[in-house]
Amino acid sequence: MLGGRLPKELRRILPIYVACVLFVLFFARANPYKSPLEASEVIKRVLAAYQTPLQSTRSAFPRKIWQTWKIDPLDFETRDSERARSWTSMNPGYRYEVLTDSNDLHYVETHFGPGPGGLNRPDIVNMYRSLNATIIKADLLRYLMMYIEGGVYADIDVEALKPVDQFIPSHIDEDDVDLVISVEIDEPTYANHTILGPKSQSFCQWTFMSKPRAPVLLRLVDHILGWLEGVAAKQQKPIGEIVLNFDEVITGTGPSAFTGLILAEMARQTGNIVTWDSFHALSDAKLVGNILVLTVESFAAGQGHSNSGNHDSPKALVKHHYHASLWPSRHPRYSHPAFGMVEECNWNRECVDTWDANKASFPSFPAEEQARLIAVHDEFLKEKSDKEAAERAAGERQEADRKQNEILEACAEQLRGFAKEQEASQQPAQPEPAQPEQPAQEPVQQTETQPPAETPQKQPSPEYQLHTDDEIRHTDPKS
Ligand SMILES: *[C@@H]1O[C@H](CO)[C@@H](O)[C@H](O)[C@H]1NC(C)=O
Ligand SMILES: *[C@@H]1O[C@H](CO)[C@@H](O)[C@H](O)[C@H]1NC(C)=O
Repeated sequence: MLGGRLPKELRRILPIYVACVLFVLFFARANPYKSPLEASEVIKRVLAAYQTPLQSTRSAFPRKIWQTWKIDPLDFETRDSERARSWTSMNPGYRYEVLTDSNDLHYVETHFGPGPGGLNRPDIVNMYRSLNATIIKADLLRYLMMYIEGGVYADIDVEALKPVDQFIPSHIDEDDVDLVISVEIDEPTYANHTILGPKSQSFCQWTFMSKPRAPVLLRLVDHILGWLEGVAAKQQKPIGEIVLNFDEVITGTGPSAFTGLILAEMARQTGNIVTWDSFHALSDAKLVGNILVLTVESFAAGQGHSNSGNHDSPKALVKHHYHASLWPSRHPRYSHPAFGMVEECNWNRECVDTWDANKASFPSFPAEEQARLIAVHDEFLKEKSDKEAAERAAGERQEADRKQNEILEACAEQLRGFAKEQEASQQPAQPEPAQPEQPAQEPVQQTETQPPAETPQKQPSPEYQLHTDDEIRHTDPKS
């Protein structure tokens, strides 16, 4: 494939060159059944085929918002609906689509299978079909669908704070951009830390915007496929049975893989080595090649590290609630038996240094002291998990209460409406001493309600009244 960006001149010449080669081949073979007219048709098609993909990137970003989740949006729980609605309500000119656990495979088969319009990549389809690790599938799927159709991808727990048309600053031409990403973690002083190092500098891939066919996305997919095959070979297991820890997910398919391939793509496009230094302490959106990198505040404000500011900043475009992240519990990461996970320091220097020092000196502690520290930590973990379970239960109760209240409220609304109708139908029959001071309005009232003579006949039961509500409206001469 001619995936990489070609210099402008070469880009212009290439189709003609290819056409010439084919032209020569055509005559060299001297097929007697084909006329020269058909040959020129062939050349036209070849030219068209080469020009279409090259030009397709010089256009606007598709007006589409993508999410992926277990279930379709009509069945989302309230919290997810609200986040999803932040995207649709803020971007009324955009379409919205969710790929689910029920329709994802069909999507991948359609677009990457051998059928019409498919890219004929059986390796991708087979990998997607065999994979069992949800988080890896989710990572792969976002790259695949953005490669095919482009638009904005956002994880289910990401809330829109600003309309998508503010993603690209006004001084940058949308034509020059193929991909919009944001810094997430910018803590390069930890670059050599054994645990934090690999994730200390990264772009996020839980929200990004792409034009269709951005080559870096397919390269990312190829990288993941190769990596997964390597893991399966090492574990001597089929793809569906491989077991991954947290760091493997991060580095294999997640933010670290994404970041590494983005930097490589930038190097490919610009011809220079691009390192994290270019994005450290970024104060303004930066375009490298056709990749636009937004500041950490844009997508990842409020983290308490990486100088990420807060969500009130005018630069904050989205808010990540991090509640879909059940996957870390399924992919264990290093946790010291007495001091826990260094990630809990949230990149606080003092905390990390203490953790490092504790971990280093732990083996030299007397066995009793080690046992005591481990017991203290176990107690802490137990309290923490009890607290989390209680919070989850409270959340579920709240959601149940809310649903119940919704039903009760709807019921009450019905009853109020009914009471009003009842009142209205009884009014003319009642004596009217209360409004003697409004004689001018009386004729108006009479034309709007039924003639008083009719009402005594009609003393309907509540059910009857409800059912005839429509009939009354239908027989109303004004309608
Ligand atoms: C990490 O290690 C490399 C090689 O030893 C060194 O050049 C670099 O300065 C170190 N970086 C940090 C942030 O300590
Ligand atoms: C995939 O995961 C499910 C549930 O975790 C499990 O029951 C199934 O055996 C797994 N499949 C393979 C091939 O390991």
